[in-house]
Amino acid sequence: MRVAKAVCPGSFDPPTNGHMDVIRRSLSLFETVVVAVIRNVSKKPMFSSEERVEMLRDLLAAEPRAEVVAFDGLLVDFARAQGVNVVVKGLRAVSDFDYELQMAQMNHGLSGIDTVFIPTSPEHAYLSSSLVKEVGSLGGSVSGLVPGRVADLMKERWSE
Ligand code: PNS
Repeated sequence: MRVAKAVCPGSFDPPTNGHMDVIRRSLSLFETVVVAVIRNVSKKPMFSSEERVEMLRDLLAAEPRAEVVAFDGLLVDFARAQGVNVVVKGLRAVSDFDYELQMAQMNHGLSGIDTVFIPTSPEHAYLSSSLVKEVGSLGGSVSGLVPGRVADLMKERWSE
């Protein structure tokens, strides 16, 4: 039996194949997955929140149980407003764990909302949006690291 609804939050600047893997696997555990795109990322984003939402909606167009929504403020406030009481996060390596555990405990302390961790598939374990941007901006190939459509949009952005 699947739990009704979970939120899968992130910056998604841009969405990588690792993100898509975690979202797809969340869909096999939960009836509905709300992909929550944070509006304000700390560094200047490559893509606006509207562009990140649009990319994810496009990538998940064949998944009617996935919703993509932008959010501001505390994740737990957004989750409560969506009627969600589970957060899903991908874990790439032990190095992710310290900070993710801290956030999970803070979110639970603030709201009672629990976090479920999905281990990233090994082939995606080294992927991060920032590394992908660095590789691509220096002329390296990002194909195989991000979905094809995202790779095209990244190339377009760099050529502007
Ligand atoms: O893709 P990222 O950058 O690892 O995502 C981080 C994100 C958006 C999940 C995290 O920064 C977040 O939840 N931000 C919302 C603000 C918030 O709730 N802060 C308290 C976290 S304990």
